[in-house]
Parts: sequence; C-alpha cells; structure tokens
Amino acid sequence: MNAIEARSLTKRFGTFTAVNDVSLSVREGEIYGFLGPNGAGKTTTIRLLTNVLTPDAGSVHINGIDIFRRPLDAKMHIGVIPESSTIYGDLSPEQNLHLSGKMYGMPRAQRAERADKILSQLDLEEHRHRYPPIFFPNR
Ligand SMILES: Nc1ncnc2c1ncn2[C@@H]1O[C@H](COP(=O)(O)OP(=O)(O)OP(=O)(O)O)[C@@H](O)[C@H]1O
Ligand SMILES: [Mg+2]
Repeated sequence: MNAIEARSLTKRFGTFTAVNDVSLSVREGEIYGFLGPNGAGKTTTIRLLTNVLTPDAGSVHINGIDIFRRPLDAKMHIGVIPESSTIYGDLSPEQNLHLSGKMYGMPRAQRAERADKILSQLDLEEHRHRYPPIFFPNR
C-alpha cells in the first residue's frame, strides 16, 4: 500500500483546466520531488491531495484511505507545511506544539513529552515560552 496514491486527478476552474489527469504514487518513507513551471498546477494538486479542494475527477488515497469519502481519517495521516509560515505568532513555541498535538487528538501527557523532545532536538528549550515565537518583520 502506498502512502499517497492519486489517480487521474482533474481540476477545473470554470472552463480552465488547472490539473489534467494527474496520477502519482508515493511509497512510505519515500522523498518525492514534484516539479514544474509556474502555473503548471503543483499547488492545486497538493490542495487536491490534502482535501483543501475537491477534484472534478479522480481519486486520492492516503495510506489506503479515500480522502474524499473519509477526509478526517485520511487527514490524521497527513502533515503539511504549506508555502507560508505555519506557526502561530500569537502563541509561544511550546503552545504551538501543544496545539498541533491537540489537533491530532494526542493526550496532554503525551503532548508534553513530545513537545519537550522536539524543543530539545531543535535546541529551543530556552525559548519555549518566548513570545512572539519568531521575529515578524511586517508586524
Ligand atoms: N482558485 C483558482 N481560480 C482560478 N484559477 C486558478 C485558481 N487556482 C489556481 N488557478 C490557476 O490554475 C493554474 C495552476 O495554478 P497552481 O497555483 O496550481 O500552479 P503552480 O504549479 O503551483 O504554480 P507556481 O509554480 O507559480 O506556484 C494557474 O494557471 C492558476 O492561475
Ligand atoms: Mg504553487
């Protein structure tokens, strides 16, 4: 079973076809590069793979789960870093980690343990309560 299995994905915006019959398979543990010129449909494809958009045709299975029929189950197997920053500027690093864990239904004790581990791995323990967590030059 593949981690990602997309078959014949097609997405139209009005009469414009942004994604035309795209199929791809990604195995568990595989690093997959998805390249193409500007406007090729990469971002639209990722939005289809993650159920942000619904395709006009085709299917997506995440670890064998149909993302259009069982979106919540499939999303529990997905982590996405989109094109812009994914951390919340009004939460500390530790609060950001707890929020992510909570969204995946992780119990508090396990969240605390994982947050400690990640902060340690990233050498960010001394910044765990820092607010804002990063410098936002546009604020
Ligand atoms: N919501 C939308 N409504 C109308 N057209 C759209 C929409 N989203 C994307 N498109 C069009 O679909 C095509 C594919 O866009 P997409 O953003 O997927 O390309 P991309 O490969 O990610 O490009 P880039 O390399 O510039 O990020 C483009 O022509 C874009 O203008
Ligand atoms: Mg893009």
